[in-house]
Amino acid sequence: MNENLTVNEQGNLAVAGVDAIELAEEYGTPVYIMNEDLIRHNCRLFKESIDKYYGGNGLVCYASKAFSCLEIYRIVASEGLGVDVVSGGELFAALKAGTDASKICFHGNNKTAAELEYALENKVGRIVADNIPELHMLNKIAEKMGVTADIMFRVKPGVDAHTHDFVRVGKIDSKFGFAIETGEAFEAVKLALSSKFVRVKGLHCHIGSQIFDVAPFEAAAEIMLGFIAEIRNKLGYEIEELNLGGGFGIKYTDEDTPVPFVNYMESVSEVVRNTCENLNIKQPFIFIEPGRSVVGEAGTTLYTVGARKEIPNIRTYLSVDGSMCDNPRYSLYGAKYDAIVANRAEQERSETVTVAGKCCETDTLIEEVKIQHADSGDILAVLSTGAYNYSMASHYNKTPNPPVVFIKDGQSRIAVRRETYEDLVRNDV
Ligand code: LLP
Repeated sequence: MNENLTVNEQGNLAVAGVDAIELAEEYGTPVYIMNEDLIRHNCRLFKESIDKYYGGNGLVCYASKAFSCLEIYRIVASEGLGVDVVSGGELFAALKAGTDASKICFHGNNKTAAELEYALENKVGRIVADNIPELHMLNKIAEKMGVTADIMFRVKPGVDAHTHDFVRVGKIDSKFGFAIETGEAFEAVKLALSSKFVRVKGLHCHIGSQIFDVAPFEAAAEIMLGFIAEIRNKLGYEIEELNLGGGFGIKYTDEDTPVPFVNYMESVSEVVRNTCENLNIKQPFIFIEPGRSVVGEAGTTLYTVGARKEIPNIRTYLSVDGSMCDNPRYSLYGAKYDAIVANRAEQERSETVTVAGKCCETDTLIEEVKIQHADSGDILAVLSTGAYNYSMASHYNKTPNPPVVFIKDGQSRIAVRRETYEDLVRNDV
């Protein structure tokens, strides 16, 4: 099927070369399986494309909101990546895993004083300032601590990549960052330049997620560089860094047609070089923040099929031992996934079913997917679950979170243990 998923001699699905049925037996279900080889391959692809198309003048920061556990921070660090964190908790996990703090970008539209202090104490590389009150707060905290905070500005470039025909205006309505077109971003930069304990290093934008076109990224880069030029022209200050965020699309089902990342980097690098030349500004150091595209397709969730309910002329529900707790993305976004009956992987996909979770509400996992005929006891593999599944897991209905298993060179190992019932009441008094 692809490098991550194959059918082995037993006719079973193999994930990263390991029999899915054996994985289900060894670790139980539900379980998240992560292909470490593919994650490392993706890290290298991002890194090498910056080397190839932008002379290595950049840093890939893995957006750890997509999938966060100690092991993933260790893996991306060993590949030379930095990380994007967006909460004290993600920052804690990154630091605990040994991430080089100077390679961390700390985001968030409502960071608390405690979080900012924690970041400064640990010498986090870049704090991405989101709003004026935060800027004041950061300046004050840095003064109290006798340090200077290196910051970037979260800017709304006015590119809305969520719509198919992206538009350049009208994205003022976002809780994140400063808008360019209202002049608010300019005022914020001016204020920061007069604040003694912050140092303005860069600008940041992030235009959306699961984007399939290169054009909105190019447009955003152009607008951001225009703003860098405006700041240089009006304030005499040259901003050195530009963070272009993440958002690169991945394949969940055959309907998805993501652009290979290298194409994106090639086009955007060219736009950056040309725009800098036209505006007569220095080529900035570039950051990119891929999340989903690093881990998404590397993840597979294995479930055991339980009840099968055929409602004549309506649909067949296949209930599994997982739920919206381990994958809330259909419930939240109507997200689509593909699945394979792992112990019948060589058989034809012969029936269309709706995969249901076991929560006490209609927690669909996949609406209408054509798979092999499945009965109770079969193992169902849901594909491309590496991003925003484990990291968005909840405990609804007092559901313990599944374990995370990594596979490298054909060897599996546990990275996050399965939660126990006891874990679920550990903080109860
Ligand atoms: N940088 C910033 C500032 C972001 O806000 C995000 C994602 C990323 C990078 C990484 O974007 P990615 O490469 O993963 O698309 N829970 C939603 C996705 C929310 C994305 C939020 N920000 C989902 O399950 O689709």
